[in-house]
Amino acid sequence: MTKKILVTSALPYANGSIHLGHILEAVQTDIWVRFQKLIGNECHFFCADDTHGTPIMIAAKKLGKSPEDLIQEVQKEHYRDLTAFHVAYDNYYTTNSEENRKYSEEIYLELKSKGHIASRNIEQSYCEHDAMFLPDRFIKGTCPKCGAKDQYGDSCEVCGSSYSPKDLKDSYCAICSTKPVLKESKHLFFKLQDFQTQLKTWMEEGNRLNEGAQKKLQEWFHSGLQEWDISRDGPYFGFAIPGEENKYFYVWLDAPIGYMASSMNYFKDEKKFNEYWRDGKGEIVHFVGKDILYFHGLFWPAMLMGAGYKTPEQLNVHGFLTVNGEKMSKSRGTFINASTFIKYLDPEHFRFYLACRLGNGMEDVDISFDDFVSRVNSDLIGNLVNLVSRVSTGILDKLERRLGKLSPEGKELVSELLSRKDEILDSYQSRNYSKVMREITSLGDKVNKYVNDYAPWVLIKTDPEKARDVVTTSSNCAKILFTYLAPVMPSLSDEIKKLYQLDKLDFGNIGEFLEDVTLSNYVMLSKRVEEKNIQAMIQETKEAFEKANAGVPKVEVKEISESGTITIDELTKVELRVGLIVEANLVEGADKLLNVKVDLGEKGIKNVFAGIKSAYSPEKLLGKKVVVVSNLKPRQMKFGLSEAMLLASGKDASLSLFVPDREANPGDLLK
Ligand code: MSP
Ligand code: ZN
Repeated sequence: MTKKILVTSALPYANGSIHLGHILEAVQTDIWVRFQKLIGNECHFFCADDTHGTPIMIAAKKLGKSPEDLIQEVQKEHYRDLTAFHVAYDNYYTTNSEENRKYSEEIYLELKSKGHIASRNIEQSYCEHDAMFLPDRFIKGTCPKCGAKDQYGDSCEVCGSSYSPKDLKDSYCAICSTKPVLKESKHLFFKLQDFQTQLKTWMEEGNRLNEGAQKKLQEWFHSGLQEWDISRDGPYFGFAIPGEENKYFYVWLDAPIGYMASSMNYFKDEKKFNEYWRDGKGEIVHFVGKDILYFHGLFWPAMLMGAGYKTPEQLNVHGFLTVNGEKMSKSRGTFINASTFIKYLDPEHFRFYLACRLGNGMEDVDISFDDFVSRVNSDLIGNLVNLVSRVSTGILDKLERRLGKLSPEGKELVSELLSRKDEILDSYQSRNYSKVMREITSLGDKVNKYVNDYAPWVLIKTDPEKARDVVTTSSNCAKILFTYLAPVMPSLSDEIKKLYQLDKLDFGNIGEFLEDVTLSNYVMLSKRVEEKNIQAMIQETKEAFEKANAGVPKVEVKEISESGTITIDELTKVELRVGLIVEANLVEGADKLLNVKVDLGEKGIKNVFAGIKSAYSPEKLLGKKVVVVSNLKPRQMKFGLSEAMLLASGKDASLSLFVPDREANPGDLLK
């Protein structure tokens, strides 16, 4: 029975370029969509650019353009970059569209009429020079915690603490540098709490979310659902809120509605649209990154529920792309734009590599370019492509490029490959792509071994018919393997289809034998990756970053000393004291942390979040004397302020706190 599925990727912001992190998501989604299409489901893939908000408005102003012109240019670029990675959208639209305006207004009015919208006055920073309210990122000033200058209104890049822009010292407008004032204005709120029960059922039903996402949502439920501010005062690039003066929908209200708008713009038919969004005849499946789970796991389904639409069947949440175990970094040259990648490397190779690395969980996906080179060169080129290329020129030419009939031994190998079909289909369906790839490469190894054992390049001289037999078997095997690989490597599979003169390569005809057929001439399928191209790509990325930052003073990182030693003066900067643990508690929602209060004598009692839960229970800590770094700059952590640090060694269950060996008084200084 064929299914109807409407699939989306998150809508990239129009204020930045497409980078490899976006590509991860687009490719993860595209593989799944191609897979659905190849097994015969009716599947549509929709996306768009997310175009509204203050940053776009300011960027356009700086460039001397209208926001409309800017977002149009960006959309073209985004589409070009994404599709270069063979991502095949059925529609790539924009949130600044009439369809989106219509659905946004309609959904809002419906929520309002049902009593799910509240309104009240709030106080916010306002720039009198620019005549606008300033979002947190557009206010700068001195960090209230550590005193670092020129920090953003929501968090400090130097000490890592987060705060409200109102607490920032010497604040100024990031656009014009004048001092903002506080001003009141009316805001509209979506009452998310109204959907508490419905949402809880929704998230626990079926197979909607992976474990990590499910857990994260549960945490938010425990801390209680909050009203959501959905309005912004003008000037704002977005949709005006009906019935209000100079108020606009906050970009995150109309962004997910952009999924609907993109689909309507494609269907151009209310009935078709309703099959998915109203009648539940089709399923809605979203792919998003973990940073936007809150919006897709709470606000979005609640909006749909409140306005009488169907909620998503699946919310597939992935982790972030990291390079060599770290966040992509502009200065290290690992924050790579899609357009830079394409200049030096083959996008389909990146699809192959991503598939090898992708599971269905919410963990970050770590890549390394060394690993990329070795995977592509050995598993793709050396194994799968080689299987085709090694017999497709010289040997087949000597056999008039004709295959014969499969021998009993050939049939056996072919059926072994076919016997993995269900497992492979299941793994695609559950987005366990790395498992698919392991299966395919191990089958490829087997077939290569078979070819090596028979050495058709020798047989062609002694027993050409036996050589034809071997080539017939290996070609049938290659056809199966490249069918398995088709969702990941669409253009390579297309070449294989041409080589074998097939009309299609899908899971429906995978079991049909290739016998007594003539093969087309071989064209080079794919080339090895060259190390120097990787270096050039990283170099270009670094240089672009350095150029963009020329003239910007760098934050100086002082090395302790050239030789790696420190002076006695430097050592005495670190204040180590004996601390008595007077309180110890678990921290709700934290896997590793305990919250302790340590008495430091004359220095008072300090609050500490310490990652020691793996080895200590709160009871065990109470009354213990420990060694504390007492003059560490306080750090604002997610769960509260941490004002000192406990010293410990080891990790997990064998983690060990440092304690004074004999009687010592709380607050005593270590010498
Ligand atoms: N505009 C919003 C989404 C609105 S959807 C109604 C947005 N845009 S974004 O451009 O910042 O991100 C788009 C998608 O790319 C998100 O799902 C995000 O998680 C994903 N990624 C952005 N950087 C990423 C990585 N480094 N790694 C993996 N995915 C990442 O959020
Ligand atoms: Zn200003």
